[in-house]
Amino acid sequence: MQIRFRLNGQDVEASDVDPHLPLLHFLRERGLTGTKEGCAEGECGACAIALVRPGPDGKTRYVPINSCLVLTPAVHGLELVSVEGVAEDEALHPVQLAMVEHGGSQCGFCTPGFVVSLFAEYYREGRVEGDYDPEAIGGNLCRCTGYRPIRDALVSLRLPDPDDSHRARLDAPAPAPAPLRYEREGARFERPDRLDALFAILEATPGAKLLAGGTDLVVEVNHRDARWETLVALDALTELRGIHTDDDAITLGAGEPLAAIEEALHGTIPMLDQLWPLFSSRLIRNRATLGGNLANASPIGDSPPALLALDAEVVIASRAGERRLPLHDFFVDYRKTALGAGELLKAVRIPRPLPTHQRFYKVSKRVMDDISTVAAAFALTTDAAGVVRHARLAYGGVAATPKRALEAEEALVGHRLDSGALERARGPLERAFTPMDDHRGSAAYRRAMVVRLFEKLVFELGATPPAVAGEEARR
Ligand SMILES: Cc1cc2nc3c(=O)[nH]c(=O)nc-3n(C[C@H](O)[C@H](O)[C@H](O)COP(=O)(O)OP(=O)(O)OC[C@H]3O[C@@H](n4cnc5c(N)ncnc54)[C@H](O)[C@@H]3O)c2cc1C
Ligand code: FES
Ligand code: FES
Repeated sequence: MQIRFRLNGQDVEASDVDPHLPLLHFLRERGLTGTKEGCAEGECGACAIALVRPGPDGKTRYVPINSCLVLTPAVHGLELVSVEGVAEDEALHPVQLAMVEHGGSQCGFCTPGFVVSLFAEYYREGRVEGDYDPEAIGGNLCRCTGYRPIRDALVSLRLPDPDDSHRARLDAPAPAPAPLRYEREGARFERPDRLDALFAILEATPGAKLLAGGTDLVVEVNHRDARWETLVALDALTELRGIHTDDDAITLGAGEPLAAIEEALHGTIPMLDQLWPLFSSRLIRNRATLGGNLANASPIGDSPPALLALDAEVVIASRAGERRLPLHDFFVDYRKTALGAGELLKAVRIPRPLPTHQRFYKVSKRVMDDISTVAAAFALTTDAAGVVRHARLAYGGVAATPKRALEAEEALVGHRLDSGALERARGPLERAFTPMDDHRGSAAYRRAMVVRLFEKLVFELGATPPAVAGEEARR
């Protein structure tokens, strides 16, 4: 079977393509060299292209992603715009014109990526002229212009003309990922569109590797030459999608992109609202999934401590049916999870009611778009007198797995969250973890952070009367 997709308004067919070939290279090999390779690991945004995809509201939109982290068969059935498709005819597109007028480009290497991100932002429904969302270009790096002229270009954007053809395209539905079975020289790429078809593949091919957004896996392909005989893409499985709230829980499909969860739940779970802006960039979050972040089981992954603190459980599916497991029992060792052969993550359930006080803190070398040295997620419920009735203190980066500080949690329950609480928790927190030295931070630094971040929580909540903090948490 051939790989087929729509690119800049034209149908493209690809055969004889290595299933591990990143889309970035496919485009460049076809002469579309506007799309650049800077880092091949999702850090620079020079390779940005826009997917035509439905948002959580179901409406079609342009969604910028890093083409260096997308394998070519993964766009089968989809529709994309590369920088070459932004301008129509000979005239510059308004976002290109804005970059020219505001001096947004010097050497120009980063410019195509910025243009694509600006293009997606230009057509964002609800955008207000003169207002701007800095995250719209948060995943694009520029080494020479400086960001102010580029931000000025962003701020200057008018709303699209009603007869703009790119805008008109958004009135029609976006294509859904199509099923695919593609093979070349012993390497196979499968994209089933039903769970039972997926389980049949996993049964027949025990070494098959699951692929969600690819923001972890394709870095391995690009930088460590990782190859798999069979890759199985999960993005056509509607069973892994959906964000639902009922009386007992908020359920998040494991295949939901992080940006979709961020948008759909905005204002619902303070912990996650605090987490998302610190999690990579919008370009990555547009593609990365929650299931991928958990299954990757990195000790410095950011969603695990947050979800541990929220007492989440995972829904695991296999041919035998479904089972639920507290996330607490999911991470069994360094980069090892409780997933068995033939199993995958289907969903994550966050129980309700939510804790009244929630904080997510991330210590990293840069504030934005960096990997955690230490992350801490705190979720507590206090009663009207300010006494702690429920406490969860979860950390990343301080042990082989993301982990809760169980003894410290117990020490807090039944007491007010004041300086006494700090002293009760200090010893248990100091004993809770065995951090390692690495290039991001020494073991001593990480151990110090465990206590310091808890102090920060006590300071922040102590400065806020409990009733107000409760309201704030529910906002
Ligand atoms: C530039 C950059 C910045 C990043 N910044 C951060 C950051 O700030 N914080 C952070 O935590 N992470 C960060 N990451 C890591 C990565 O983006 C996340 O871990 C992401 O959530 C992975 O999701 P994915 O869908 O892309 O996973 P994939 O790469 O597709 O898969 C990751 C692993 O999970 C497995 N898998 C995927 N889905 C399932 C499933 N449903 N069931 C079972 N197994 C599954 C795959 O087989 C693979 O082993 C960053 C990555 C990059 C490239
Ligand atoms: S090449 Fe740098 S993000 Fe893709
Ligand atoms: S203009 Fe040179 S890197 Fe941005």
